[in-house]
Amino acid sequence: MTRHKYCAANWKMNLTPTQGVNFVQDLQSNALMKENTTVIIAPSYVGLTALRNNLTKENIELSSQNFYFEDKGAFTGEISADMLLDCGCKWVILGHSERRHVFGESNSDIRKKFDKALQKGLKPILCIGEKLHERESNLTREILVQQLESALKGLTDCTSDHFIVAYEPVWAIGTGVSATNEMVEEAHEMIRGILSSLGYDGNRISILYGGSVKPSNSGELMSISGVDGFLIGGASLDVSSFYKIYESF
Ligand code: PGA
Repeated sequence: MTRHKYCAANWKMNLTPTQGVNFVQDLQSNALMKENTTVIIAPSYVGLTALRNNLTKENIELSSQNFYFEDKGAFTGEISADMLLDCGCKWVILGHSERRHVFGESNSDIRKKFDKALQKGLKPILCIGEKLHERESNLTREILVQQLESALKGLTDCTSDHFIVAYEPVWAIGTGVSATNEMVEEAHEMIRGILSSLGYDGNRISILYGGSVKPSNSGELMSISGVDGFLIGGASLDVSSFYKIYESF
């Protein structure tokens, strides 16, 4: 089955709005003609509007890196789904390992955000992945089950079209060491099975790989069965490396 492909940039706390605009202008000067492929850019919150105002290609979409699940109110420093929609966001990254492990987000926080995103029409990019000691203790499957179940179990209005998944083994993020092809293939297959057991069509849901993706390994990673694109951190900060990764699709 042909699933949609995504080349997604997670800029984290990098690039000012001005640098972000320069990036998209440079990116758009290239041909972005890959069929069935969408570029997603997740800048900092403060860069969203400037980027939206400078997008000229329909196959580039905006994502937020996070949001808060309440609609509005006394939540100093937080940002709501409506605010993101107003800035042109279509996507939201949820459960990124830095949110989980640096900021202490729990599976239940992520579920609340998942529910609110769906209710508001933002599409989650649900990030899941095991830590190194979990992999070494053979707990990868158990962790993926927990993370997927807690986000997705029992949702009534959620279908396979409403979200995508990013498999990001924590030990491969920002370390320069990507997972091996076998690990990636096995994890993606496992995730499809878990999604199906939760009542979704696992074969229809795009699953991205993330963790030290760069131009030198993207072609090989992209050829792995079940990989529908990437969520890219470090290598997404430079237009030419990001574009080279896109070209490997
Ligand atoms: P990385 O980050 O590409 O720098 O490893 C990936 C991510 O955190 O999404």
